[in-house]
Amino acid sequence: MNDRELELAHATRAALRSVPTGVAVVTAVREGEARGITINAFTSVSLEPPTLLICVNRQARSYLYIAHSRRFALNVLAADQREIAERFSGKRREMQFEGLSVERGIGGIPLLAGAVAHFECAVSQEHAVGSHSIFIAEVERATHRAGEPLGYFDGAFRSFALERTS
Ligand SMILES: Cc1cc2nc3c(=O)[nH]c(=O)nc-3n(C[C@H](O)[C@H](O)[C@H](O)COP(=O)(O)O)c2cc1C
Repeated sequence: MNDRELELAHATRAALRSVPTGVAVVTAVREGEARGITINAFTSVSLEPPTLLICVNRQARSYLYIAHSRRFALNVLAADQREIAERFSGKRREMQFEGLSVERGIGGIPLLAGAVAHFECAVSQEHAVGSHSIFIAEVERATHRAGEPLGYFDGAFRSFALERTS
């Protein structure tokens, strides 16, 4: 990158600190082994058919699990699951799920207990963009529960104040 590109990347990163997001762990299984990765780059795409997208760094270990199996679960974390977000954003090589309560979803993919929403998805498209791949996926099952989601804003995990604005 030249100086101008570096400056633009820096400014983009800084401006993104002003964008609040939810936090999710994407889980996937490859050859019987499960892996998860914390992400905040996820959003809905369509309801006809129900479709969402996630963005995953192709350097991440989880990338190959998703790219090869073409299936994943998006576990949207609750406000009290900050430690789970930290666990799945660390470079822990093994035993990622040790001590966690999980159910097995479609294809044996782990669903994290306590999440506010689970989306079980089948990848329909992958688009490589820069360092990341966008996975567009059809939702095959979606569940949710009442509760406050975990937020991320200005470089830190946050709780959302759930009062409605007037
Ligand atoms: C709040 C937060 C949001 C993140 N969002 C993303 C994301 O959207 N996509 C991504 O590829 N990595 C994201 N990461 C980084 C991954 O969680 C991190 O690189 C992880 O260690 C990769 O693990 P792996 O190499 O074991 O798969 C995020 C991390 C944090 C803490």
